Amino acid sequence: MILLGPPGAGKGTQAKRLAEHLGVPQISTGDMLRAAVQAGSSLGRQAQSYMERGALVPDDVIVGLVRERLTQPDAKAGYILDGFPRTLGQAEALEAQGVKLDAVLALEVPAEDVVRRIAGRRTCAKCGAMSHVTFSPTRTSGVCDACGGETVQRADDREETVRRRLEVYAEQTAPLVRFYERAGLLRRVPGTGTIAEIFARALQALG
Ligand code: AP5
Repeated sequence: MILLGPPGAGKGTQAKRLAEHLGVPQISTGDMLRAAVQAGSSLGRQAQSYMERGALVPDDVIVGLVRERLTQPDAKAGYILDGFPRTLGQAEALEAQGVKLDAVLALEVPAEDVVRRIAGRRTCAKCGAMSHVTFSPTRTSGVCDACGGETVQRADDREETVRRRLEVYAEQTAPLVRFYERAGLLRRVPGTGTIAEIFARALQALG
């Protein structure tokens, strides 16, 4: 299945819960790219300049990355795609690969909530666990509850870059909602409320 939604909609948050609940991996292209940037690989060097600007990494790079990931043994019984596809080209490439989707969940969140969520998001520099300074704060400010690592703000979560990411979503990714609606796969999930409430709605939408 696919989780669709604007930056900060809670895709990563819900994908982690759904993955655990359904016993399938969460495949987040954003996480894969950030790991490549941190490792300093050639993919990471290529992706970094796009990500820092809030632009999309070119389709051919991402499509190749996902194609390879989907061949891993843990993806045999299914998976949750978080942040992919993000363009019509990527969606068509997935189809061309013969992937049969069960559902596409579209998380619907008003722009002002998205901005608040992104502004307060913190990620552990060591283990990647996510928190929010207001909505799900760590016990000690700046320190990860899970591993004691330092919690930091993502490089692309600065205001200027967030504005660009939202524009890119509206221009290039929002058309996928219609694309999957026409394919009869779209399930709309209101993305406001608590994380637990949205998770319950997502499960209900999946039947
Ligand atoms: P990516 O990492 O995928 O970023 P994104 O889509 O912009 O989404 P986010 O990670 O910002 O938000 P989210 O929806 O996962 O929300 P989250 O759960 O964190 O991509 C980053 C970059 O990589 C892109 O800009 C692009 O350059 C590149 N890229 C990635 N995939 C690509 C692709 N396919 N093609 C081309 N380029 C690609 O939640 C946000 C915050 O809100 C958290 O702090 C969380 O704790 C909090 N929160 C969540 N739910 C709630 C709630 N219900 N109430 C209150 N707070 C909440």
